[in-house]
Amino acid sequence: MKNSPLSMVLGTGSAASGKVLTNFDLEKMVDTSDEWIRERSGIERRHILEESKTNSDLCVQAAQRALEDADIPADELDLIIVGTITPDSRFPATACRVQAKLGATNAAAFDISAACSGFIYGVTLADDFVRNRVGKKVLVIGSEVLSRITDWEDRMTCVLFGDGAGAVVIGSSDGKKGILSTYMKSDGRLGDLLYMPGEGSTHPTTHETVDERLHFIKMKGREVFKHAVRTMADAANHGLKEAGYHADDIDLLITHQANIRIIDAIARRLKLPEEKVFVNIQEYGNTSAASIPIALDQARKEGRLKDGNLCLLVAFGGGFTWGSSMIRF
Ligand code: ACO
Repeated sequence: MKNSPLSMVLGTGSAASGKVLTNFDLEKMVDTSDEWIRERSGIERRHILEESKTNSDLCVQAAQRALEDADIPADELDLIIVGTITPDSRFPATACRVQAKLGATNAAAFDISAACSGFIYGVTLADDFVRNRVGKKVLVIGSEVLSRITDWEDRMTCVLFGDGAGAVVIGSSDGKKGILSTYMKSDGRLGDLLYMPGEGSTHPTTHETVDERLHFIKMKGREVFKHAVRTMADAANHGLKEAGYHADDIDLLITHQANIRIIDAIARRLKLPEEKVFVNIQEYGNTSAASIPIALDQARKEGRLKDGNLCLLVAFGGGFTWGSSMIRF
């Protein structure tokens, strides 16, 4: 249990494009079927960002909703953190683009590259920042345009991913609500199980790297699946232990939405009934860093997360990275 003043979530927001790609649309693009995708992953459709828009546009939509929910003007923000692996460009940070678009002139801004754990890593840093600087306000965003690094000819990956953004504003606790625990961990030895080989200093972009399709996500699905279950169970247990709670105290579990079978396996390990587990993978697919904040916002708006409820957030992603956060709403 933490001993310095707690931080809390002041507001949430999310955004996704109205352009939807269904499993039936994918049947026309690669050798797959709606039945295979639903049975193996739980996904039915995903949202794809319009070509004219960028990641920071999505971030700003989600952020404006979170700021409105928190009733805080953008110029009161002290820090903006964006978790993403699909930035507007290699630099400057997408968080800086977001700062400019929001008019958050008093904030510092940077990105976190922790794949699907990017949002949870951001919450961890924001929590530490606010507990050490009481009264400060941090905007944490998880946002991805995975459609731009997806190989639309690779049926093993293209059926899984989608675009979207979710945001939270974190500030000092009112004494009733608060972030009770944060946890983050990595194992870089497993980096090549899920990665994008191109566009970095290893393979700077050339005609050859494009011909070899190095600018797309590569994934060893079965291996990733095993580690996702193991590490998210580890993250859940750490989060509970640090906060001083047991699994049966959880009112709502929100895991990274990567695969319904992974979510079910974590829920079984924690012995949680279906109604305590939030699932929206059927609607969004895997939106990497955006999946948890989108789910969190949806859960609050749908009344699945009420004042006083205990919510456990659990993430896993490329790196490998994983982490959790236990929050009293
Ligand atoms: N449509 C139809 N058949 C397919 C498709 C498809 N889209 N993709 C693969 N198959 C075939 C395979 O070729 C294989 O055929 P074979 O038996 O003739 O060789 C068969 O289906 C089974 O393939 P598996 O890879 O064993 O299928 P699995 O049950 O493992 O499901 C999946 C694949 C959905 C990718 C699963 O492994 C998974 O979800 N893994 C985790 C992925 C994940 O979470 N990634 C994101 C991590 S978070 C981040 O950082 C982005």
